[in-house]
Amino acid sequence: MKGSIACYAFEHFEIANYKALIQTAESAGHTGVAQVCKEILQEEIAMADWLADHLESTATQFLHRADDDDQRAKR
Ligand SMILES: [Fe+2]
Repeated sequence: MKGSIACYAFEHFEIANYKALIQTAESAGHTGVAQVCKEILQEEIAMADWLADHLESTATQFLHRADDDDQRAKR
């Protein structure tokens, strides 16, 4: 569960960084670099969305495993 939350937070860290890189590259006239960063930004947004879509089910599964003596929640 902590891993999922950390990944979600990290994706948003990456999103902010790519936005800054795009702005910087465009300001410096490096349109090719900006374009690559824009493409990667879309991947980061997609991953953040995927993680957001799965956080509830991950939490639910974590809680079920935490209550099950035969399973460990960290698996
Ligand atoms: Fe990422």
